Amino acid sequence: LRLVALVSGSGSLLQALLDAQSAGTLPAQVVAVGADKECTGLERARSAGVETFVEAVRDHADRGAWDEALAARIREHAPDLVVTAGFMKILGPQALTTATFVNTHPALLPSFPGAHGVRDALAHGVTVTGSTAHLVDAGVDTGPIIEQRTVAIAPDDTEETLHERIKVVEREMLVDVVTAMATGGWRVEGRRVHIG
Ligand code: GRF
Repeated sequence: LRLVALVSGSGSLLQALLDAQSAGTLPAQVVAVGADKECTGLERARSAGVETFVEAVRDHADRGAWDEALAARIREHAPDLVVTAGFMKILGPQALTTATFVNTHPALLPSFPGAHGVRDALAHGVTVTGSTAHLVDAGVDTGPIIEQRTVAIAPDDTEETLHERIKVVEREMLVDVVTAMATGGWRVEGRRVHIG
């Protein structure tokens, strides 16, 4: 299974995939890593010898042109699966036609979608949150759910401490989900993704 990852930040989720790949336990190959800006995630890819590309929104006339350019870049690598690993831009319709997209979100969807899932869960006072792996559709964190894992919130948690614990779970789940999808295939039934 050919996998392209998209990153915007530190790329620790990507690193989990790269580590599994170099350990020989990932039944998939990360063939390229793309980003919307220069970021640590790209450096991690280069260190692992993986090809990288950058398509910045500001280098294009508008979002539509960016979407088309990103789609073309992704298509060059003919992925079976694209993983958004901390990619902080909303994907356009052209990009989404290139492959199946998997995202992980640091909250239990449909609660707390959007860019501040950890902060919003804390602010709401919930005692359990977690991470959701889901397919990407045109909405923001609205696609069919693949898997969810929970994380308990401690009374003294800050956004940073909680996000760090969620990311530990998120990395394991992402590797497990990619492994399962690569091994067993997947089908969408209503709002759920079934693997195998
Ligand atoms: C993850 O929690 C992801 O769900 C969120 O940002 C974090 C990415 O972290 N959108 P990293 O860049 O992979 O370290």
